[in-house]
Amino acid sequence: MLFRRRNINTDIPEKVMSEAPPSVKTTDIQSEVSASSESGKEQEEKQSRLEKKIRDNEEKEKAIQEARKQLEQELETKHYYHQRLLETLDLALLSSLEKESARKELQEAIVQLMAEDQSHTLGAEGRKRVIQQIEDEVFGLGPLEPLLKDSTVSDILVNGPKSVFVERFGKLEQTPYTFLDDRHLRNIIDRIVSQIGRRIDEASPMVDARLMDGSRVNAIIPPLALDGASVSIRRFAVDKLTMDNLLSFNSLSEPMAKFIEAAVEGELNILISGGTGSGKTTTLNILSGFIPSDDRIITIEDSAELQLQQPHVVRLETRPANLEGKGEITQRDLVKNSLRMRPDRIVLGEVRGSEAVDMLAAMNTGHEGSLATIHANTPVMH
Ligand SMILES: Nc1ncnc2c1ncn2[C@@H]1O[C@H](COP(=O)(O)OP(=O)(O)OP(=O)(O)O)[C@@H](O)[C@H]1O
Ligand SMILES: [Mg+2]
Repeated sequence: MLFRRRNINTDIPEKVMSEAPPSVKTTDIQSEVSASSESGKEQEEKQSRLEKKIRDNEEKEKAIQEARKQLEQELETKHYYHQRLLETLDLALLSSLEKESARKELQEAIVQLMAEDQSHTLGAEGRKRVIQQIEDEVFGLGPLEPLLKDSTVSDILVNGPKSVFVERFGKLEQTPYTFLDDRHLRNIIDRIVSQIGRRIDEASPMVDARLMDGSRVNAIIPPLALDGASVSIRRFAVDKLTMDNLLSFNSLSEPMAKFIEAAVEGELNILISGGTGSGKTTTLNILSGFIPSDDRIITIEDSAELQLQQPHVVRLETRPANLEGKGEITQRDLVKNSLRMRPDRIVLGEVRGSEAVDMLAAMNTGHEGSLATIHANTPVMH
C-alpha cells in the first residue's frame, strides 16, 4: 500500500520510479504504435521491445510477490518458535548472561526446539534467517531490527502490534512485520526507553527517546493511544544530506544555495519553517555547516539530531521530569543557560514554546547568526 506524502521533495519518488520497473500496459503499446508514422518493421520492433518490457515487469512483480510471501511465511514461523521459546525458556535470564554464551545457548535451544517440533518446515537459509530473527527478539528490538538495518528506510511507524509502516523516499508503505501482541510491543518499547534511563507507564504514557545509533524515537501508549502502543522512529541518517544533494534533487537552485550560504556567513538570524518531515532538521544541519569554524556554537535540542563538523561545538539536550515529576530541564532553561556560555551562535533544534522569547532576545542582543526551526504548514504549490 503506498501513500504519497505531500510535503516531501517530489523528485525523489520520481527518481525511484524511474529506477523501478516501469508499468507498461498493452494500451500504451497500441497508442504508441498507432501514433507513430514509422515503417512497419520499425513498428514491429518497437512492439516486441515493449512486449519484452511487459514480460520483464511481470516477472519482477512476481519475484517481489514471492519474496514477500516467503518473508510472511518466515515471520509466521518465527512467531511460532518465539512463542514456544517463551513458554519453555527464561529469556530474560538468557539476555542477562554474557553476550556470546547467551547467543550460543539460545541458538542451541532453537535448533533443539526445531528438531523436536517440525510443524513449521523451512529450508536451510530460511532456518538461518528465522534463528537470526529470534536472536533479534531476545537481544535486540525484535521486528524493528531488520527495518533499522535497512538503509532505505527513513521512518518506522508502529500503529499497534499488528501494523508496522515504513517510509522510503517520501512514501509510506505497510510492511509484513508484526508483533506477537500488545505485551510483545510494550516489551520492545520498554527496552528502547530503559536503555537511556527513561520509562513509560500509565502515569507517564508518552516518551521521547533515542536509539544507540542516534535514531529519534517517540512512543505513546494506552490510554492515550486508543488502538495500542504507537512508536514513531525517525531513523538516523548516517549519510546526512548535503547542499550538493539538495541541488541535485532540485530542492533549490544554485543562486538560492549561494544566498543561503552568504546569509549564514553574514550572521543573519534564520528561522527554518515547514511541516512535519518536510526537511527542517536536514536544512538546519546543512546551514549550520556554513558557520565559520572559529565561531563557538551551542546547539540545543530535545533529541540531539544535528551533526556539526566544526571544532568548537557544545551540544545540549533537554531532560524530561523524573519519577517524582521533578528535574525537568526545558529548551528555555537551556537557551537561558547558553547565554552564560559565551556563544557566538545558538542553534535551536525546534522553537515550540516559551523559549521563543529568549531566543528572540538572544538574536537581538549580540548572538546574531543564530539558527532555529519551527513547525508550520508547508506551502502548497498550485
Ligand atoms: N530536500 C530533500 N529531499 C529529499 N529528502 C529529504 C530532503 N530533506 C530532507 N529529506 C529527508 O526527509 C526526511 C525528514 O527530514 P527531516 O528530519 O529533516 O524533517 P523535519 O522537518 O525535521 O521532520 P520533523 O518535523 O519530524 O522534525 C529525512 O529522511 C531526510 O533525509
Ligand atoms: Mg526535525
